[in-house]
Amino acid sequence: MAILLVSALCVVQPTRAERLCLTGSFDHQVKTLLDYVKLSDEQLSNILQVPRDLERVFEDHWPGCKVMPYGSTITGLALQSSDIDCYVDIPGEHNENPQVLVAEALEILKNHPDLFTHFEIRPTARVPLLKCVHIPTNVFVDITFSGPFSINSSRVLSHLLHLDERGLELARILKYWGSVHDIANGKLTLPSYAMALLAVFYLQQKNIVPPVTLLQQNATPYEIDHWNTAFLPLEYHTDNKESLYELLGGFFQYYNDFDFENTIISPYLGYPIKKKDFQDLDKFDDFDLYKRNLENGYAAPFYFGYMNIQDTLKHSENIARPNSDRWLALRLIRHLRAAASMYQELSSEEFLSAVLVPEKRLEAGKLTTFWEGGIGGPEDCPKIFQEKIR
Ligand SMILES: *[C@@H]1O[C@H](CO)[C@@H](O)[C@H](O)[C@H]1NC(C)=O
Repeated sequence: MAILLVSALCVVQPTRAERLCLTGSFDHQVKTLLDYVKLSDEQLSNILQVPRDLERVFEDHWPGCKVMPYGSTITGLALQSSDIDCYVDIPGEHNENPQVLVAEALEILKNHPDLFTHFEIRPTARVPLLKCVHIPTNVFVDITFSGPFSINSSRVLSHLLHLDERGLELARILKYWGSVHDIANGKLTLPSYAMALLAVFYLQQKNIVPPVTLLQQNATPYEIDHWNTAFLPLEYHTDNKESLYELLGGFFQYYNDFDFENTIISPYLGYPIKKKDFQDLDKFDDFDLYKRNLENGYAAPFYFGYMNIQDTLKHSENIARPNSDRWLALRLIRHLRAAASMYQELSSEEFLSAVLVPEKRLEAGKLTTFWEGGIGGPEDCPKIFQEKIR
């Protein structure tokens, strides 16, 4: 209710999407923001109806199949705009061509027009996907059959983010920041998973979360596609006492000074690896699996790009999409720089809105706001900004 009242004040023109004006202390603003952008528990449990419906419908065709959600619905990073990712596990059919399975799934779901609609097959995606909309919840669904790999990478991420409340809040703010500026929302940009890994890695530098090696240390190895996906949850105590405000500002400062091109961001090891050191794997105790997979031809060497973010479990994978990353990386770096200097120059009350106000871009000679809605800036929240000037 309070949010509605505040945002009602912010509408300057009836044609423009409503903007949220953040007021009060930084912590209060964070609460307002997260209440507004994140999925409520009720919405989340509603969305979790999707895998249950899928399982019920697929069961007739593939007896014993299991449909497991992964991605933001289990990591705690789901925002209002999030879709749900589902992996379908069919007993005994691990070797079947995922493209064929995706096509079969489409035929099955077409027989349930009351439940699913707007089908689209993405055969060329890194993993073949069937996209559709689940009618009862009006949610976009991505269905895959390829490698149950993502299940445990989501669980590892979820575990790391839930160890400390500040970590989860930091990652949520950054995910929203990444989508507002169109730098990490998983569309033509960096995947939002990359932003979450940047957050985790920074928290590792602050000794707030442990490296992934520590989670795997005592777990009985379990391999999928030749990579170990096993891990054990861990209690982890930190003596870091920084506030969320300091951590958010610190995040921007840390990456502002970061040599992205020559460094691998490795949440697996929990510390930065110099590109030249990574050529000599014997220097590392924890890359035996990677070495073995290279020697046996199970994996291609890590592909260096302008930005290098190593997957937590699949160590040959650069999450920063190396094919098109130069332009993306430069945009991300530009936003990091801007945010780092806002942290230096603005007060704690001004900082959050400033970094989250959507950027205006010149399009066809006109200055347009790229992102509708969201957090209001000086034009949207004149009252608040005037008070600050006085
Ligand atoms: C995930 O990790 C657990 C715990 O180590 C392990 O038992 C399980 O087999 C793994 N599952 C997948 C799908 O990777």
